[in-house]
Amino acid sequence: MMHQLAVFGHPVEHSKSPLIHQAFAQQAGVAINYKKIKAPLNGFETCAREFITQGGVGFNITVPFKGAAFGLADELTPGARLARAVNTIKVLADGRLLGANTDGPGLVIDLLQNLGWSLRSKRILVLGAGGAVQGVLMNLLATQPASVHLWNRTAETAETLARKFERPLRAVTTQALESNYDIIINGTSAGLSARVPDIPRHVIGPDSCCYDMVYGATQTSFIQWCLQSRPQATSDGLGMLVEQAALAFELWFDQSVQTLAVRRLLRPSLTS
Ligand code: ATR
Repeated sequence: MMHQLAVFGHPVEHSKSPLIHQAFAQQAGVAINYKKIKAPLNGFETCAREFITQGGVGFNITVPFKGAAFGLADELTPGARLARAVNTIKVLADGRLLGANTDGPGLVIDLLQNLGWSLRSKRILVLGAGGAVQGVLMNLLATQPASVHLWNRTAETAETLARKFERPLRAVTTQALESNYDIIINGTSAGLSARVPDIPRHVIGPDSCCYDMVYGATQTSFIQWCLQSRPQATSDGLGMLVEQAALAFELWFDQSVQTLAVRRLLRPSLTS
């Protein structure tokens, strides 16, 4: 039986999800047809329902439809409810739609398991306060860090977002940034225009581990900027991409998959 899957986005052409899920399907021995669907900006729900009518059993949702997918789901996992964003939908046997958010768990698995960075009792700095960051904050908090400082170019947005979460998360202004954070995570979209957030260098020290939630064929501008301060380690977000996909695949097929081989397969397929 061929399982119909898809990713909805706008844009979506660049998506690596079909490649990743084909690799998982091969591993798991299931047959899938996974396509990219560029829904009109105001037409996500119509497109998604049409896909389901045509036999779709599940789909991923990327920018800018994660909020709309949250609204479409009949049932939500606790993580999706807290994030108020859905990146994975499973069509249940009775036709109801289960919405999950695997972005945050995917990030934490990449940090802890793939990279071996520890988060417990660590001082974490998160840059950005948009949708990408909102989806991962509660998962970071669940790792029991000493503190999570949320910095954003527009300070007010960080404050508004921080109010939705509990200690030890708080918004910080540029002046209040501390030195030598253990973990620095860039969740801004500055890199998409080859820019880096305007923060002082002292946030990075020799023990800092720097993570960029975006990825590319070449080193991201944020990682390049970090490397000038000789941090202990750096990583882009390719691992997060593969881990969030693995968790989506597991939700659809109740089968776990290995991610290392898929990360290796994916890296050379990236084009700038
Ligand atoms: P996403 O879904 O990728 O999070 P978003 O919700 O539009 O997209 O959020 C983009 C984030 O990147 C915001 O935190 C934005 O900061 P502002 O709130 O000040 O707009 C941040 N961002 C974008 N370009 C940036 C830049 N050049 N420097 C710093 N932050 C930037």
